[in-house]
Amino acid sequence: MEKYVYERLATAISENARLTEAALVDISAGEDEDYGLVLDAQRYSLLDGGKRVRPFLVNGCCALLNGDINKSMPLACAVEMIHTYSLIHDDLPCMDDDDFRRGKPSNHKEFGYANALLAGDALLTKAFLAVAKADSLSAEERIEAVRLISEAAGDSGMIGGQIIDLAGETVDLNFETLLKLHSHKTGALIECSVRLGCLAAGHGADSPKTQMLCEYAKNIGLAFQVIDDILDFISDEEQLGKSVGSDATHNKTTFLSFYSVDEARAFAAELTQKAISAISELEGSELLTDFACYLLERQK
Ligand code: IPE
Ligand code: IPE
Ligand code: MG
Ligand code: MG
Ligand code: MG
Repeated sequence: MEKYVYERLATAISENARLTEAALVDISAGEDEDYGLVLDAQRYSLLDGGKRVRPFLVNGCCALLNGDINKSMPLACAVEMIHTYSLIHDDLPCMDDDDFRRGKPSNHKEFGYANALLAGDALLTKAFLAVAKADSLSAEERIEAVRLISEAAGDSGMIGGQIIDLAGETVDLNFETLLKLHSHKTGALIECSVRLGCLAAGHGADSPKTQMLCEYAKNIGLAFQVIDDILDFISDEEQLGKSVGSDATHNKTTFLSFYSVDEARAFAAELTQKAISAISELEGSELLTDFACYLLERQK
């Protein structure tokens, strides 16, 4: 990526992370002498270390469509809370059994299994509270946001993908099922982020701009998990900030069950190109184009 493009994008990413983290600090504030540990466990995973890809998409799509960040930010926080819960549970011994996440010990290594389970449950629940309390949005917009998030996070989305992922440890999945797995476990929340950004800017599912952005999201969402599979195989824990080699240890079916690293990269590049083409007609979409390239080239 050219230097000035990289600098413009890097500034936008870090500014979005800063604003999102400030909002997450507010949302996750609270003390209680009887259950303070589970509040600390939530903040431990939520407040630092994430790339904030999903909030970038929520706020970025809203801004692109001339929406107000005060409307998109509560939705961005809700998605990041759900994503964080999914990571806490994903690392548990009954799932991927990984000890390292976001540059530090996984939640259950720090707080124990039960607290990690409950911290994840609480983040999931509080995500919907954040939407319910978002008074910058109308009642109808909040209901639509709840619907979009529930569909993307539940068994028709992320949870469904996690189930297929676990099944893929013991049976060989075919390529078509692998595509379904990836688009559910990772793609659904990424597409949801884009839809929420559009919603916050007053663009519903029928809007041509929402449709272009959804096509972008579908493609970057799939590419994102292809790159995740590659990084699990080739990266190291220090660089990635999370456990590596986990997919091979669990005999998971991933993109590297079908493709070499170079072929998988070429596939992700093809998807990224499709994503970029989908928004090429959209005025002001350069930042999202650069973001798609950053996601393809990311090292963590
Ligand atoms: C990791 O997501 C899990 C997947 C869905 C692939 P990210 O790579 O976005 O993780 P963080 O949020 O930066 O920690
Ligand atoms: C995670 O997929 C998807 C989630 C819904 C959390 P992975 O299991 O590949 O994610 P990492 O590699 O542990 O971050
Ligand atoms: Mg997993
Ligand atoms: Mg995992
Ligand atoms: Mg992975």
